[in-house]
Amino acid sequence: MNRADTLALMRRLIDRVTSNTIDEAPAMMTENVAEFLCPQRFARERQQFFLDSPQVIGFAGEVKEPGSFITSEAMGIPLLVTRDNHGQIRAFVNACAHRGARVAHGHGSKARLTCKFHGWSYGMDGQLAGRPQEACFDQPDRRCGLAPLPVSDRSGLIVVGLDPAMPQEKVDTHLADIEQQFEGFGFREMHSLETRRFEVKANWKLIAALSYESYHFATLHRDTVAQWLRPNYVFDTFNHRHSRWSFPMKGIEKLAEKPQAEWPAAIPGAVSHALFPGTVVITNPEDAQIIRTEPGPTVDTAVVYYTGVCRHAEKMEDSRAAYAFGGLAFETEDLPAAVECQQGLAAGREVLFIGRNEPVVQFWHRLWREQLAD
Ligand code: FES
Ligand SMILES: [Fe+2]
Repeated sequence: MNRADTLALMRRLIDRVTSNTIDEAPAMMTENVAEFLCPQRFARERQQFFLDSPQVIGFAGEVKEPGSFITSEAMGIPLLVTRDNHGQIRAFVNACAHRGARVAHGHGSKARLTCKFHGWSYGMDGQLAGRPQEACFDQPDRRCGLAPLPVSDRSGLIVVGLDPAMPQEKVDTHLADIEQQFEGFGFREMHSLETRRFEVKANWKLIAALSYESYHFATLHRDTVAQWLRPNYVFDTFNHRHSRWSFPMKGIEKLAEKPQAEWPAAIPGAVSHALFPGTVVITNPEDAQIIRTEPGPTVDTAVVYYTGVCRHAEKMEDSRAAYAFGGLAFETEDLPAAVECQQGLAAGREVLFIGRNEPVVQFWHRLWREQLAD
């Protein structure tokens, strides 16, 4: 977003706070519980939305310098993303050519990555760089390097294709409809903090939807999130593919007393970009998080990756504390609610209700249904 768009968004947020309203959907909608219980539908979602569609797994800033790397996992595939010596971003299956162990853990910066099992080492370009007792092996061939995956950081976010045959253009353009909006959020300047992984007994869509509404702030998060955020959100969509909802911190309305020229550079609140199929990128003036939800092995299971990054390296400890606080609310308040919902829906509910005050949830349920090919 440029400055004019940022100011306009702040103005909309202030208006929503002063009138104590939100951007509402025109009507309530219902969703059939089969969406969360049907194994056939689930298998198609798994294949089409996750294995065959690019996934957003991090911020470009996390692999800014040559030699930097992050590791992650998606759909059971261990991932490694590096910046090679020529400044090129690269992604690999994080599996050693010798016997498959991971060649890197966590994140960091190194000249080479060395597998801790038997010590094969690799350059940041994925090529085998050396191995103990070399004479015991034949000449290395291309199978001795790490297996590459298509990757793009064109948008400022790291987008990976889990299928090595996915065309590069597909990962490059995955966020084309929304990437202009990312401008000014500093995705290329973020520093890695931590990723937590949760295995949850709930359908992935129930978990994704936790990050799509503020209806639950005053009840589920009464003592945590609701202490500093207002639920008065504004909502936008981008070419019917991605969405954005923004909600203000308490006190934003005081800005109305000042001339716009004195308004802050960053929106005092959280801006949450929801990206296909079920990932949210949440930013505030100090930090950012990615909450990536994917299907688990069965229709009633999911895996969630909760990644925190910070904008200012010198404030890393503050960012760590904020990440821990948000992570704890997510783990102890949001996720248990989703588990209860899954169990309750399976116990014989027919439909669930999505209010006019939950437009983002409505948007995504419609989109998921439309996008799923037979
Ligand atoms: S599995 Fe990596 S060196 Fe053996
Ligand atoms: Fe929540």
